[in-house]
Amino acid sequence: MPAPEIALTQRFQSAFAAAFGPEFADADPIIRPSQFADFQCNAAMGLAKRLARKPRDIAAEILAAVDLSDIAETPEIAGPGFLNIRLRTDWIAAQAADLSADSRLGVPSPESPDTVVVDYSAPNVAKEMHVGHLRTTVVGDSIVRTLEKLGHTVIRQNHIGDWGTPFGMLIEHLLEVGEDSAEADLLKSDPNAFYQAARAKFDAAEAAGAAEDGSDFASRARKRVSTLQSGDAESLRIWTNLVELSKQYFHRIYDMLDVTLTDEHLAGESSYNDLLEAVCEDLEAAGIARISDGALCVFPEGFLGRDEQPLPLIIRKSDGGYGYATTDLAAIRHRTTTLGANRIAYVVGAAQELHFQMVFSAAGEAGWLPGDVQAQHVKIGSVLGEDGKILRTRSGSSLRLMALLEEAVNTARTVIEELRPDLPEAEREQIAHDIGIGGVKYADLSTAHDSDYTFDLDRMLALTGNTAPYLQYAVARIRSISRKAEAQGITAAAAPRVENDAERALALALLEFGPTLTAVGAEFEPHRLCAYLFSLAQAFTAFYEASPILKESVEEIRAGRLALAQLCERVLVEGLDALGVNAPEQM
Ligand code: ARG
Repeated sequence: MPAPEIALTQRFQSAFAAAFGPEFADADPIIRPSQFADFQCNAAMGLAKRLARKPRDIAAEILAAVDLSDIAETPEIAGPGFLNIRLRTDWIAAQAADLSADSRLGVPSPESPDTVVVDYSAPNVAKEMHVGHLRTTVVGDSIVRTLEKLGHTVIRQNHIGDWGTPFGMLIEHLLEVGEDSAEADLLKSDPNAFYQAARAKFDAAEAAGAAEDGSDFASRARKRVSTLQSGDAESLRIWTNLVELSKQYFHRIYDMLDVTLTDEHLAGESSYNDLLEAVCEDLEAAGIARISDGALCVFPEGFLGRDEQPLPLIIRKSDGGYGYATTDLAAIRHRTTTLGANRIAYVVGAAQELHFQMVFSAAGEAGWLPGDVQAQHVKIGSVLGEDGKILRTRSGSSLRLMALLEEAVNTARTVIEELRPDLPEAEREQIAHDIGIGGVKYADLSTAHDSDYTFDLDRMLALTGNTAPYLQYAVARIRSISRKAEAQGITAAAAPRVENDAERALALALLEFGPTLTAVGAEFEPHRLCAYLFSLAQAFTAFYEASPILKESVEEIRAGRLALAQLCERVLVEGLDALGVNAPEQM
């Protein structure tokens, strides 16, 4: 089912070949939306350069060669050689009818589906998921949902921080408070409190100085790191318990957020432990890594430090320990070989840009990231407070994500209680969840993922503007129309009506769903889907103001408009689902 741009592109390319020769058959006709018509073809200027001729003459020749008779009215030449195209309304109507009969709503299937590994969320064990993790979680989940709708194979990887030196201190603290204690339970509800308590003990012990017999907390914590890393069974058991308790916390957050991550997607740093030695050996044997100042390092080409010296990616420290880079090299090798990925998205904070550039480059040199595999760091910007600084609580500690989400739902609850006091309590509760959580997620998704944004609940939950509640309200409105129609015995026509300007504009917007979703999956840019859905909802509002549905007396028109509205509902709901935002039945 061709969206207008696709159909127009085909016709123009045939015309280019006919008018200028077969070598022009794949020239880009540069079809863009236009304020003077529906679309413009902007190819004449570029072709004129290639052919060393006048753009307006080229435009005239294109016009003579192109056959759009069934799609559009005769285009007009404007300015230096733009072709203004107004689509035929009956053609739009036919496309809308196809769209409404298509269960994929015009989303094309990929010629050869990709296997995409999406590395997202990735919080750290025994630490609070902060608002930065909110974004990596929400954006990542929208990307996997979108790719799945497009028909790609998606492998979710939650690269949690579950290994490293802090675990010595955490294990010792867990042993001291008792594995079944209330303090241990903090790991499930307020992991930062647990972490801070362990940290405080460690710092106090450090300040007091080590005991001769090494019985002080800091010495024990350090010793625990090495027993853990050497595979000591008891240390591993306590570590597993620690991770287990943290997992429960992550899943409470994921459930609250309607995020699709489960235990089976966990591939934490520790899962690569057995592969790290081979990573180092193979890189050294291949001459890619070498010892520098006692540490084994890769110096990926083109990375220079401030001193203009090659920048090292340390893969084995001088004490023999492995770090974040080693794990990521093992992970990338695993992903391209064992998991068979041909695309990998790393949905991670923008601050880690250099790390990923160096890892990708080193992996490329090692042959673990072949040229036909695309690895991309989907850089995530910061969430800011009203003061323009990274969002924190007043005391300055990082904000509890759960508290933030609960606040969003509570605020949404007061909105819906005012809006719909008539609804049963349980339904209002569900709607409050959908609006509150949807509002927070949507605000995050509608901002370009690499831009910062200010956390502002009132704006996120507003019923107007580019917000989730605005879109949810549009859906609820159509559903309410459908319910009333049903009660009055009115059924929708088989095909949507596309005749007046508002119907036409709405139908045109609906045809853009497939191409938009495809672009979002190709570029990993959910904010483009948000912008699209917002303009679609606006087109619906304009349509509904101009074209009454149930109040329309002519039966045929009424039924055709109802079908158009219902098609719009399907696209809105599908689009919101790709973002991970629920659309309540009523509002
Ligand atoms: N745990 C890390 C953090 O909280 C993010 C890990 C991202 N993924 C990766 N493959 N390095 O910043």
